[in-house]
Amino acid sequence: MNTRSATTLPVHGGTDAGPPVLHDFSTNAHPSGPPPAVLEAVLSADRHRYPDPAYAMLRAHLGDWHGVAPHRVVPTAGGAEAIRRLSLVALLAGIRRVCVPQPGFGDYRAAAEALGLAVVGYADTQALAAAMDQPCLVWICDPCNPTGATFSAADWALVARACRDTGSHVVVDQAYEPLRLLGSSALPEEMANRVWRLICPNKALALTGVRAAYLLAPAHETWRQRMETLASSWVLSAEGEALLRAWACERVKDGLMASRPLLRQWGDEQRARLAACGFEPMAGSVSNFWLARLPGAEAGLPPGQLSAATPAPVDLVQALRTHGIKLRDARSFQRPGWVRLSVQKPEAVDALVQALHQLTGRHRLAGASLTDVDLHRITGPQEDVS
Ligand SMILES: Cc1ncc(COP(=O)(O)O)c(C=O)c1O
Repeated sequence: MNTRSATTLPVHGGTDAGPPVLHDFSTNAHPSGPPPAVLEAVLSADRHRYPDPAYAMLRAHLGDWHGVAPHRVVPTAGGAEAIRRLSLVALLAGIRRVCVPQPGFGDYRAAAEALGLAVVGYADTQALAAAMDQPCLVWICDPCNPTGATFSAADWALVARACRDTGSHVVVDQAYEPLRLLGSSALPEEMANRVWRLICPNKALALTGVRAAYLLAPAHETWRQRMETLASSWVLSAEGEALLRAWACERVKDGLMASRPLLRQWGDEQRARLAACGFEPMAGSVSNFWLARLPGAEAGLPPGQLSAATPAPVDLVQALRTHGIKLRDARSFQRPGWVRLSVQKPEAVDALVQALHQLTGRHRLAGASLTDVDLHRITGPQEDVS
């Protein structure tokens, strides 16, 4: 268990303030672009009028799609907004402790810390169960960003028991469920009806610029009404409403399913090619992204002893960024010397391998140690990345 109180702003992959990124391995969005039907729906959304503030038709559609009553569908202006709002509702309901996966998506911690809630990071379900000795808000990300790891049936059983014993509230963030490339979710049906589920389809639909997501409230839930009263009016834009409506259909679902074998193949090839360049992938990802240790980086300190400001052993990430290639620096995940990589098209991997050859020297790639002096010689002084 690891507790921290210092306020930290969440760090994200994807677009930044720098020059355009040509090959973005730092975003977890589907690399093949949006399904045409969804893109068409978003582009033809009616921007001339407000959407229905109650989103009645959308909620009925999504409720039908998930087999739940429409009132259990809570539209949000993206997953990030859902995380903030649910954390506030937890505070108002008297919750004082929030359990977050570690490593995990930074917004869970940021939202809790901004509200003065105590945050406990957990590395596995044993640690999570131990932390739940009072009613908690518990975030579970399955598959987990950044590791791509997933809960087993035994993990879910342990969490279910701990929740029952303590009256804790669980939110299962399923942002990457549609991008699960191996196996299927072990979340039992019965438990799926007793937890909050966060659905953020914009990643799988490769439309992350559209800010739209929704929560499925537990069947017997006391927080749902407060979630609604705390929402700003028209929380979803017309485009957001169109995206969510278009996403929940058989054709889009089948298209995503059909893309999995190719993503798996690309991912396997990408791992092999980068391993030949000295990257060491962490095992256990079932998703379209994984953590990897940079070539030449050393194992470092145990995660709990590191701060987000610890410099990477070799700032290859920064050097690659100047080549228009972005990797997600994993320091904010307490993993200096590591990056998170997403599956990208083979041509993007070609560009990455070529840039690595230029930056590190073809003859030195297979795990040879690099120094900051080497990078300075090639790319000039490097600034710390945060
Ligand atoms: C695990 C996870 N949950 C939620 C989000 C929030 O996504 P959005 O606000 O785009 O729906 C992200 C974004 O990266 C994420 O990685």
